[in-house]
Amino acid sequence: MSKLRAVKGMNDWLPADARRHRVLEDTFRRVAGIYGYGEVRTPLVEPTPLFVRSIGEVTDIVEKEMYTFEDKGGKTLTLRPEGTASCVRAYLQHNVQASGPVTKWFYSGPMYRRERPAKGRYRQFHQVGCELYGDAGPFGDAELIDLAHRFLTELGIEGPRVLLNSLGSGDTRQRYRDALLAFLKPRAAELSEDSQRRLERNPLRVLDSKAPQDQEVSADAPSILEFLSQDDQTHFDDLRRTLDQLKTPYEVQPRLVRGLDYYTRTLFELKGGSADLGSQDTLCGGGRYDGMVEQLGGPPTPAIGFAMGVERLLLSMAEGDPSAGCDAFLVVTPAQRQLAVGVLSQLRSAGLRVDSDIRGGSLKSQFRRADKSGAPFALVLGDDEASAGTLQVKDLREGTQTAVAVSATASHVLENLKAP
Ligand code: HAM
Repeated sequence: MSKLRAVKGMNDWLPADARRHRVLEDTFRRVAGIYGYGEVRTPLVEPTPLFVRSIGEVTDIVEKEMYTFEDKGGKTLTLRPEGTASCVRAYLQHNVQASGPVTKWFYSGPMYRRERPAKGRYRQFHQVGCELYGDAGPFGDAELIDLAHRFLTELGIEGPRVLLNSLGSGDTRQRYRDALLAFLKPRAAELSEDSQRRLERNPLRVLDSKAPQDQEVSADAPSILEFLSQDDQTHFDDLRRTLDQLKTPYEVQPRLVRGLDYYTRTLFELKGGSADLGSQDTLCGGGRYDGMVEQLGGPPTPAIGFAMGVERLLLSMAEGDPSAGCDAFLVVTPAQRQLAVGVLSQLRSAGLRVDSDIRGGSLKSQFRRADKSGAPFALVLGDDEASAGTLQVKDLREGTQTAVAVSATASHVLENLKAP
């Protein structure tokens, strides 16, 4: 029988990874919270047309990466490849605009894209993201970019860089599209097969291509910033001024485009950290998508958001387990193993995260396991302690040891954990 393995590109999270993920999520919740964002949770599965209509038919995601299947009732469903379309669907379905002009949501969860797996690119991956409805910017845009930048800084990611562009709105895109097409068409033969195929329907995607021949051709392409209307230009200038005021560093990248079709005006990405992620180095992608709510059947509603790849963030963060598994490790002499059952239960009820080697073994080997566990304290329960109703509390960092009544041990350890 062939070995059972996880689906290619989909990963298990063992406790150390899950713990780092949890710390990251907690940090995201806190940072999003201080900007006034509330959490939403939407289903992992949505009707396929939601993604086709919002993300765009001529995109990698819709053309070849969606996990789409028919359910038993004959409906075509798709595992969500991203969170933005689902948020808009939920926003409309629950008539959220009726409860106030501005809505700020954040989310965290798994997404699915059938991409070629590589370091930092998976078929099941996780995103944390924010979406803001009802504000046309540019202050909301600046605040959102500032939030993303602050989050990366709080995670300890070195030198986060914000790359910024504007795609304009209304007929700006169309005028730029025409100019780009006029530039690319005579060079079509030099482009990759994918780009040649997309040229007529979506020439902007050529700028986003990772193929070296496409990058060479597009290096001299006209810049969209030369095509912005007066309103777009004012929006972009005001956004830049506000980012300067917030002291959020950014770099204007006129050739920045993104793989989803729904963007208008503000477009941004964040990179950073020391991990070598190759072409998977975009930690965060986002932008304004003022047309989507209306396109999915709602009233005209400006919107902007971003999403970050959790796996990429974890690869980019400093190594190390941000919180050790346990506060203390109980070391027990063979005669006290029965008593230890009750002591462990008492300590856990008092809120202490405590582990022990339930197989017993020599004191030396138990101390070795205590060290390996990463717990800062070892608690020793020997015959003397058993008759005195105490535990020896050994600070494994300092090497000091004190006898403490069992009933007071949890608070003693927790108090000392807080000490610097
Ligand atoms: P996206 O650029 O497709 O945008 O994805 C955002 C981030 O998710 C990427 O920068 C990357 O860090 C991560 N990511 C994407 N695909 C993978 C993958 N296969 N494996 C690992 N990480 C991945 C969106 O998803 C938009 N919904 C962002 C947005 C929100 N725009 C407006 N609101």
